[in-house]
Amino acid sequence: MHIRRRRGWEIPEALATPEAVYLSRRGVLGAGAAMLAGGVMAGPAAAQRVGDAADPSAGLYPAAQNPRYTLDRPVTPEAKASVVNNYYEFSYGKNVAPSMTRFQRRPWLVKIDGLVEKPQELGIDDLLKKVQLEERLYRHRCVEAWSMAVPWTGFAMKDLVALANPASGAKYVRMETFLDPKIAPNQKDFRYPWPYVEGLTLEEATNELAFLVTGVYGKPAPNQFGAPLRLVTPWKYGFKSIKGIVRFTFTDKQPLSYWEEVQGAEYGFWANVNPKVPHPRWSQASEEDITTGERRPTLIFNGYGAFVADLYKGRENAKIWF
Ligand code: MTE
Repeated sequence: MHIRRRRGWEIPEALATPEAVYLSRRGVLGAGAAMLAGGVMAGPAAAQRVGDAADPSAGLYPAAQNPRYTLDRPVTPEAKASVVNNYYEFSYGKNVAPSMTRFQRRPWLVKIDGLVEKPQELGIDDLLKKVQLEERLYRHRCVEAWSMAVPWTGFAMKDLVALANPASGAKYVRMETFLDPKIAPNQKDFRYPWPYVEGLTLEEATNELAFLVTGVYGKPAPNQFGAPLRLVTPWKYGFKSIKGIVRFTFTDKQPLSYWEEVQGAEYGFWANVNPKVPHPRWSQASEEDITTGERRPTLIFNGYGAFVADLYKGRENAKIWF
């Protein structure tokens, strides 16, 4: 349920006008297409920038938990999950938050383009008014063979697909992270193909499990979790769960994802969890719980086969596992 509350950071014009239009009036969008693709922008709106502690969507939390998605293990304590993260734009280590001091979560524009009825661009808070937030408990399995269990808050990705109204030729959704090396220092590292890109087939994106995450542990997601918008696909390895999304492009071509581009022999487009298909350099048969250090057997599709196995029927021997 969305309760519209006026918050301190809002100015009257923002109350009456869609966020993207309002920002363009302020001259921000006029700064050029390259800046738009970046999502995190400099310019006159800088005064309204907010960081981790002052998320304007805080009043939407906590959202009701959807009881359909249950865990077979305890939720990972927030203190632990908050310091074991992957966000290469900021750090190649696991404690990412201290490297995110320049990251700002507003303004944040989300572009929807490609093979759609009508391309659109909307501010994250306008997007949040069009969807219903809920909490889901999901297992989270990294290709590095560690795992955790996380109470994400967000909305079904199929709702964003419906909002986009893709044309009949659209087969994939390509997603892109913001690009701004002033904010994300490792984006200056020319060894990597920035921005981070991921993709799903339209069938995967509209599967009920595909979840666009805005929050975690009952509040807006702290920066290191990929605020203000990231993907979670719990049946796939964690690298599919792209953070800091600013663009969804509907396309008829299979997107080249970030890790596939970096190291295609080890990481592919599909990345479905399978204990029987090892990574070229290590086994995927078991995983380590980041809290207890306990090892448990990895489950096919990370235990979500009942929801997603049909998507891949007849292709079990194809390259859908990495
Ligand atoms: N998204 C972006 N933009 N940059 C990244 O480096 N890392 C991925 C994924 N999304 C990554 C990203 C990897 S490898 C994993 S395992 C998950 O984020 C980690 O999510 P978590 O930090 O919430 O556990």
